Amino acid sequence: MAPETPGNEPQALSNLLQENRRFAPPAALAAAANVTSAAYAEAAADRLAFWEHAAERLSWAKRWDTTLEWNPPFAKWFVGGELNVAYNCVDRHVEEGRGDKVAYHWEGEPEGDTRTLTYSDLKNEVGKAANALQELGVGKGDRVAIYMPMIPELPIAMLACARIGAVHSVVFGGFSASALKSRIDDADAKLVITADGGYRRGKPSALKPTVDEAVAECPQVEHVLVVRRTGQEVETNGKDVWWHDVVERQSDQHTAEPHGAEDPLYILYTSGTTGKPKGILHTTGGYLTQTAYTHHAVFDLKPETDIYWCTADIGWVTGHSYIVYGPLANGATSVIYEGTPDTPHRGRFWEIVQKYKITILYTAPTAIRTFMKWGDDIPAKFDMSSLRILGSVGEPINPEAYVWYREHIGDNRCPVVDTWWQTETGAIMISPLPGVTEGKPGAAMRPLPGIDADVVDDQGNSVPNGGGGFLVVREPWPSMLRTIWGDDQRYIDTYWSRFEGMYFPGDGAKRDEDGDLWLLGRVDDVMLVSGHNISTTEVESALVSHPKVAEAAVVGATDPVTGQAIVSFVILRGTAEESADIGTELRNHVAKTLGPIAKPRQILVVPELPKTRSGKIMRRLLRDVAENRSVGDVTTLADSTVMDLISEKLPSAKSED
Ligand code: WT7
Repeated sequence: MAPETPGNEPQALSNLLQENRRFAPPAALAAAANVTSAAYAEAAADRLAFWEHAAERLSWAKRWDTTLEWNPPFAKWFVGGELNVAYNCVDRHVEEGRGDKVAYHWEGEPEGDTRTLTYSDLKNEVGKAANALQELGVGKGDRVAIYMPMIPELPIAMLACARIGAVHSVVFGGFSASALKSRIDDADAKLVITADGGYRRGKPSALKPTVDEAVAECPQVEHVLVVRRTGQEVETNGKDVWWHDVVERQSDQHTAEPHGAEDPLYILYTSGTTGKPKGILHTTGGYLTQTAYTHHAVFDLKPETDIYWCTADIGWVTGHSYIVYGPLANGATSVIYEGTPDTPHRGRFWEIVQKYKITILYTAPTAIRTFMKWGDDIPAKFDMSSLRILGSVGEPINPEAYVWYREHIGDNRCPVVDTWWQTETGAIMISPLPGVTEGKPGAAMRPLPGIDADVVDDQGNSVPNGGGGFLVVREPWPSMLRTIWGDDQRYIDTYWSRFEGMYFPGDGAKRDEDGDLWLLGRVDDVMLVSGHNISTTEVESALVSHPKVAEAAVVGATDPVTGQAIVSFVILRGTAEESADIGTELRNHVAKTLGPIAKPRQILVVPELPKTRSGKIMRRLLRDVAENRSVGDVTTLADSTVMDLISEKLPSAKSED
């Protein structure tokens, strides 16, 4: 437990969770792994030479002069170098004789609705779209907002922008008109690319009316390019042009001009907890270098034989880096799925794994916990023997969810890689290497080769093994954000001001006795109980380790005795019955697992948890409930009815002890 300092201000995060399970890499995988432990030594000896080596995996029209120009906190990588991202992701594979290889197996939500795009097909489609964008007056440096469902035209539109040097800003298709409008305005986009709609939960879901509402107030938008996906009625106006009218008639030949390594590639807005969304700016050479390298290293991608599926939405950074840029740069064959995991049935994901013989699956803890809740019998019905590597991203993965994933999806054969990164980091930063690292359930383990991450205390000093504190990155990395679009000062204030000379991502972490890293959630969520800083992650993981619990969210609520007290919201597993003494049972379980300091004051059994559209638990809203306040802004909730369901449970919520 962390020592208390005078004034009861704890220095660091308590380290409560003990986890002794270990999983060694499968011998065959280790023997043939793309990356071995030598990479750590190579990067430690000369970090910049290591990244140069990674950059050489790409095709450059002009080699860079300077690997890194670092004027803290502003970095430029591969300065003087020139390359075209779309050429690297598409054309070069065709030129090297892989034109007939499948780039994307696309699976629509309606069953049987599929499309296959080879690298040649993709080259032709991207060429046509690039010609169309130019005809619509879009040129290098212009911003293009993209608001689309998960259909092949989405990566095609992104690659067409990249090809001509236009800067895309993909806005997740679940966002409202006002969110879309503010993003179009902030980036000053002149073109919006959208679709009539997409399929979600068995129904066509419209997108175009939202775009109309947003664009009505955006005079700078010259055109709206619309893909017909669902065939729904759409109203059209003078700005609208149909994709099938403008793109289809173009030549599929388009010359890819090289762009500067530091030319902007895209902006992606991240909302964070407060304030106006931040336009995270990524550039060209360093971004593609690190996304391609990490996809090759962390997933051990063998482009000839692997079938890779990342279940994220392309509207989030995970989709940008690990559905579009990383996999295509590596010549991978990927699956893209349009819909939700429960349409038309709860085995849909496993049916897709079986159908395409997926070998590498990359998904999120929120999805894994949902599958746990639905029951083990569902995945058990499918043949998933093709799988060889499982990835996790987006939140800390609770040890129990990790073990469930390993056992029920990976048949205890497949290593699980827990990958820590952010929209801002652009690519994976902390992760096991599947052929090198012994897996520990719940731990992201080590910074990747070439990444200098650390855990520090309040003063910015490294914590020893066994200690907890703040995650930081000490040296710049190729795919780092370059700034916040239009707001350098906010970039400095948000990420570079907490600790002198270090990047602060906002996450808590601990370093265990072996020196391995565990991510403990956002520091804003840390609870201060009787002078101890306790991470929500550890208490949630302890709850999820109880056989009756599928999901848990905990928050600190003001308490007259302890400062803050732990209030827990839990969802029971499909098979578990809610009994009268479940609260006592779970509170005792946490006390036994983590120690009495972490014993929740209160347990509420709820049917759902409030989550953002990217699946992160919105603890802010749960704090409102726990402190009996009226619930705050729910506009970023994926399902706004969830808070009503939770509040209904409140009368039964009694404070125990
Ligand atoms: C935040 C970034 C990374 C792409 C998707 C989310 C949390 C992400 C992990 C992980 C623990 C994680 C962090 C981070 N997070 N991955 N493996 N273990 N926490 O991107 O929306 O920018 O969110 O997600 O808190 O800061 P994002």
